[in-house]
Amino acid sequence: TVSFRLGIAGLGTVGASVVRMVERRRTAMEAAGLDLRVTAVSSRDRRRDRGLDLTGIEWFDDPVAMARSGKVDCVVELIGGSEGAAKAVVEAALESGKSVVTANKALLARHGASLAALAEGRRVALAYEAAVAGGIPVIKTLREGLPGNTITRVSGILNGTCNYILSRMEHEGLTFEACLKDAQALGYAEADPTFDVEGFDTAHKLAIITALAFGTAVDAEGVSVEGISRVQPLDLRMADELGYRIKLLGVAQATEAGIEQRVHPTMVPKSSAIAQVMGVTNAVSIDADAVGELTLIGPGAGGDATASAVVADIADVARGIVRPTFGIPAAAMRASERVEMQRH
Ligand code: NDP
Ligand code: HSE
Repeated sequence: TVSFRLGIAGLGTVGASVVRMVERRRTAMEAAGLDLRVTAVSSRDRRRDRGLDLTGIEWFDDPVAMARSGKVDCVVELIGGSEGAAKAVVEAALESGKSVVTANKALLARHGASLAALAEGRRVALAYEAAVAGGIPVIKTLREGLPGNTITRVSGILNGTCNYILSRMEHEGLTFEACLKDAQALGYAEADPTFDVEGFDTAHKLAIITALAFGTAVDAEGVSVEGISRVQPLDLRMADELGYRIKLLGVAQATEAGIEQRVHPTMVPKSSAIAQVMGVTNAVSIDADAVGELTLIGPGAGGDATASAVVADIADVARGIVRPTFGIPAAAMRASERVEMQRH
């Protein structure tokens, strides 16, 4: 049995679910040869009641100190944000030779290349299944499931909050603001929900998907982005009358001009599979030459669904599985350069 000590940085919606899930799954994990234990945690407010039993778990006010301490083998970063504490704790862990599991797509979209280089230099894992499409194992599918294929297109609904808002506005006639409030109360939205409703969160996820699907460096600046904040109830009614639904889609595809990455509200025929995806559910369709089209559908946000992906990464890392972060060496080219090279 492998003993593996976890330090959880950030005890919010996802962090608290991960602590509970590791405890709940202890016996099953032990049967699979893994003795996983949360030995340290760090969050901002030590006195907040999170409904967690933290007896015997060391509390750190400073997550960087936790990452550097000898108390943990792996750091699970669930603070969020592309800068500040989240970045500092991930860098500190990797620099200390510890693997990192994170759900932080903003961090990876912005600093993925340098963090991947750091992880590869130290020969440790930087795992992020939960960063894209919540509980759907889309990273595993893209990175490990399709080596016999050339992928030509990946598209889908990648933000649970937006799909939840659009679904409820359409079906219950609620206002955008009321739906957003509920999405926040349910723990789906980002700390700053502008990231959800303006499409940036979808763009972050799409940039990660593009890197995996096309073997290029993460290029979040290269995504053209429009969110749903300007979608009016009238737009949804008009779409409905014409036989369509409005969905916020992310699309990455190889074109003559390079790899196109775009995020925008899209009219989809009501009879299509993507139109049936409602609420917090996400859907990712992959077009690949050998296998054809694959579509993965499942919960895109929420504590337990996201913790499910985090715990899958933790199990891999505990088993000593270390893969290049984006499936290719860290010093990869950007999407447009790569396509240019393939054409010559
Ligand atoms: P929350 O806002 O619920 O939790 C963030 C936690 O980080 C809080 O517990 C907060 O502390 C803690 N924190 C903030 N600053 C610091 C700091 N300086 N040092 C230590 N702890 C700090 O976020 P979520 O759990 O929703 O999200 C966490 C990550 O997971 C984000 O990257 C998000 O994008 C990602 N994610 C979230 C999903 C979801 O459905 N919610 C789904 C997929 C990914 P305190 O509680 O003490 O104030
Ligand atoms: N805020 C994100 C969403 C969380 O709603 O999809 C999951 O990444």
